[in-house]
Amino acid sequence: MPVNPSDDTFTRRRLMTRTAQTAGAVATAAAVLPALGFALGPVFEHRPASWQPLGPLADIPRETYAMRVVTETPGIGEAGKTTVFVRRRNPAIDTEPGDPFNQVLALTSRCAHVGCPVSFKDAAHVFVCPCHGGVYDFRGRRISGPPPRPLDRFATRIVRGGAVELGPRYSVNAELRRFAPHFSGEPLDGIGPHLYPAQPGTPKPPE
Ligand code: FES
Repeated sequence: MPVNPSDDTFTRRRLMTRTAQTAGAVATAAAVLPALGFALGPVFEHRPASWQPLGPLADIPRETYAMRVVTETPGIGEAGKTTVFVRRRNPAIDTEPGDPFNQVLALTSRCAHVGCPVSFKDAAHVFVCPCHGGVYDFRGRRISGPPPRPLDRFATRIVRGGAVELGPRYSVNAELRRFAPHFSGEPLDGIGPHLYPAQPGTPKPPE
């Protein structure tokens, strides 16, 4: 049967159009889906909280900080360990919103600028970062330097007759309001929380 050239041209044109549309859809999906996953991932992904021992409550000071080495990222040995600063909560100064019954405060030693280890200067009751001069007050709030937010914190709880346990890390803004954990360098005031989603796969911040 003879082939009508105009039919053949039409069929080829339609085939090329469909191919181009399919390629366009694949390209769009390749560009959009990772961004969508990045934005929505933190909403759906939450690891269960894990808790680790910090020792007896009686060994934790109230007027200064004690240091404890804990595992922040399991499964990678020493590289997953970090130092936390712990002290008993003092209701006279620890007036931040949330868990008023929490008896122990645990602050990260990682600077909120780019993550250098901070040290606590007992005489001045401040935390100092050696890298770019960031300074935090006794409650971990930024006093000066480039850090965009206070030191991150960890949830704590008391179990079995006075043993203290350390839970998930969370971030705080200048008012010490709780947010899901964020990376160093990410502010949590103003439009910061809208610009920087929580780290994917992290536990929900404690209520
Ligand atoms: Fe601490 Fe820059 S890393 S001030």
